[in-house]
Amino acid sequence: MNDNWTRREILGSAAVIGAAVGNAGLVAAAEPVVPAAPRPAGASDPARSPFLQGPYEPLSNEQIVIDDLRVEGRIPPELSGTLYRTGTNQRFEPLDPSRFHWFDGDGMVHAFRLKDGKASYRNRLVETEGLTVERAAGKALYNGIYGQSDKPQLPLPAGAPKIKVVAGVNVIRLGKRVLALHEAGPHYWELEPTTLETLGRFNFDGQVDGMLTAHPHFDFAGNEWLLYALNNEKKFLECFAADPGSGAVKSKHRVAMPSTPWNHDFIFTPQHYIFFFTPLQWRPWADDRIPQGKSSWFVNPKEGRNNTILFVDRRTGKATWLRPEDSQYRLGHFLNAYQDGEDTIIDSGLVAPDPASPRPSFSLVPQLDGASAYGPSQIWRFTINLKKGSIKYRRIGDFSGEFARPNETLLGQKYRYAYMPAAHLPAPGTRGFNCLAKHDHATGETRFQHPAGRKDLIAGESVFVPHPRAESEDHGWVLALWQDPRRNVSELIILDARAFDGEPAARVKLDHHVPLDFHGNWIPDRIA
Ligand SMILES: [Fe+2]
Repeated sequence: MNDNWTRREILGSAAVIGAAVGNAGLVAAAEPVVPAAPRPAGASDPARSPFLQGPYEPLSNEQIVIDDLRVEGRIPPELSGTLYRTGTNQRFEPLDPSRFHWFDGDGMVHAFRLKDGKASYRNRLVETEGLTVERAAGKALYNGIYGQSDKPQLPLPAGAPKIKVVAGVNVIRLGKRVLALHEAGPHYWELEPTTLETLGRFNFDGQVDGMLTAHPHFDFAGNEWLLYALNNEKKFLECFAADPGSGAVKSKHRVAMPSTPWNHDFIFTPQHYIFFFTPLQWRPWADDRIPQGKSSWFVNPKEGRNNTILFVDRRTGKATWLRPEDSQYRLGHFLNAYQDGEDTIIDSGLVAPDPASPRPSFSLVPQLDGASAYGPSQIWRFTINLKKGSIKYRRIGDFSGEFARPNETLLGQKYRYAYMPAAHLPAPGTRGFNCLAKHDHATGETRFQHPAGRKDLIAGESVFVPHPRAESEDHGWVLALWQDPRRNVSELIILDARAFDGEPAARVKLDHHVPLDFHGNWIPDRIA
């Protein structure tokens, strides 16, 4: 047992687990109430995927509750709300542990509640239908939807969903709801905001016929959520705007698709939804793919090697396609976009093509070596003039970075600052990104944060939280989870965004690790 855990914390965990057993029968009473003991850095089993080990190792404890986390420094009293993070956390031993993929597994939400200068923590799995089927069986039954098994899927109980979707990509607030997101179906999951219990599906009143994005974006200027769904069986894309309170669909535009791409993100301006489609195809619901042991991802030689760019007019639905030559770069997560006269400015993470590879580069998708899932990614700026059909692009900064986000009250608008995990002076053997970066588009300057000078801490996606009485774009805090691979523990670090590379405002300590995750958001107690 971990000596750092207090009696109160352990009793708190036991109480929650007991409640869960009585409530849903989902967690065995014998479940350990403390995290697994930290493993030494570098411990690895060659028979198991790297995405089951080290910084990615799933937590065996599904419901940890810690009421009063240790804090170094001072949590700003203005920070009153919850940071929700989510990633994958495979509940049962995978069918083929050697080929397990980071994007597969069960979704686990981690909630850091901050109030009155104190911090608490909870975690919980999202109870998808696929996980319910596996809990009943007491073992894994499903092939992954991203990794390739090469073996046909096992027979499933009657009524079980054909594939197990991954509810561990993102978590957002829509009105009063907290929603856990995936990207392979027409709904999200609603969570109880405090206990993180899965309450059921949220499906926009059945208005969606396709695979909803896990990256909806909130347009503060227009006061609406913007989303899209891809239907790769019927070959269409639908873009829609939703009411920020109820989620009611306000407008919807359908675009016929020439192919069946895997697409993970989009961006918008006041006039357009904007997509960069790669030639990588995705058919997770096709009967001849996952059930037959084939990857849901595949390359269709007819698609060529270039990207296809799509602008969809938010008002009229008019689709404008651009098919740039020599566009073998692969965009990751968009940072922002805005209109500058006739030019549309689009900033994004980007993986440049590998000139040594005879195949199209899809290195954006983490390979099973697990060494550096997004290591090659850089930040690039595209300038597109739709009238002229011209596209220019250039790299921003000289560092490797991804998961970049701005002050999101300025999404779709001209902005100055970007925050992101990055690689800068990494210690040998560092996996993932080893710092946070703040880039200033106005000066071209980039500042890097290495807590306590450490060059081996692994930084996750950061979230900018504006000060409630913000006087400038960067007046606020940057919140991110960091993992210490030496001790296999995680912490939430709060930075004053205006003193980005200075001493952190607060370091909120866990005695267990949060497996390297994907996305999350800050949900304030008081909604402006
Ligand atoms: Fe993502």
